[in-house]
Amino acid sequence: MSAEQQAREEQLIERVTASFDGTPDPRLKEIMRALTRHLHAFVRDVRLTEAEWQQAIAFLTATGHLTDDRRQEFILLSDVLGASMQTVTVNNEAYRDATEATVFGPFFVEGSPAIEHGGDIAGGAPGEPCWVEGVVTDTDGKPVPGARIEVWEADDDGFYDVQYGDDRVAARGHLHTGADGAYRFWAIVPTPYPIPHDGPVGKLLDATGRSPMRASHLHFMVEAAGLRTLVTHIFVRGDELLDRDSVFGVRDSLVKDFERQAPGTPTPDGRDLGDRPWTRVRFDIVLAPETRFG
Ligand code: BEZ
Ligand code: FE
Repeated sequence: MSAEQQAREEQLIERVTASFDGTPDPRLKEIMRALTRHLHAFVRDVRLTEAEWQQAIAFLTATGHLTDDRRQEFILLSDVLGASMQTVTVNNEAYRDATEATVFGPFFVEGSPAIEHGGDIAGGAPGEPCWVEGVVTDTDGKPVPGARIEVWEADDDGFYDVQYGDDRVAARGHLHTGADGAYRFWAIVPTPYPIPHDGPVGKLLDATGRSPMRASHLHFMVEAAGLRTLVTHIFVRGDELLDRDSVFGVRDSLVKDFERQAPGTPTPDGRDLGDRPWTRVRFDIVLAPETRFG
């Protein structure tokens, strides 16, 4: 590239960056200046053609057209680019042995049913019964009583209740830890499912030879006074999708042993499952302090 060409490109970056100098909000100023630097660096790095730029605009336009109250194609785009997971990672700083966070996803619903300890969140969702238990502690190992645990998952057919569009409530619920910080409930064994892939994001995955599948997982959100809210999932050890989860949500520390029990094996709470097999998993949760640490 000639010195003249390089100078023209660099001058443009200077001018655009400087255009934000008068931004009253210092954080917005920092973000817009950095966005300018990175966006221009990208355009220059790949020597983006005008046709490619138009294609990108058409892609974003289609993404916007598909987005409404029920379908958020932009979040899906952020998810498959790993931007959602990177934002989660930046904002849930590693702290001692605190449990790692992962993506929230679009299928959490406020107002899930309350369940008792040992209750069943399945609510009629098809799937193999799965006993889930653990204890919530802080990073000093002290049990956290009264922590609110929200759980939600897809059914055996790979769908969340809200995807059926018939107002059913299934495979979700909430409970609180006891005085000893412990919790236990019945769920169903998680199964893999595809993220919605009938829109522009699906086309992008197709064009890049990527799969829309998510590794099997069970979502958790854990809240307790004075402690950092944890949004995470647990994954199934041995799942072949663990290393190619479409939204990069898998962390090694979140992969758990789901231990299959032969039909007739006594259940922890005496529930009679007849001749059905069942599974059990333990997930001990460590919550970081709420305050920022340096
Ligand atoms: C989910 O785990 O529910 C999810 C996360 C990101 C995109 C789609 C679904
Ligand atoms: Fe999910």
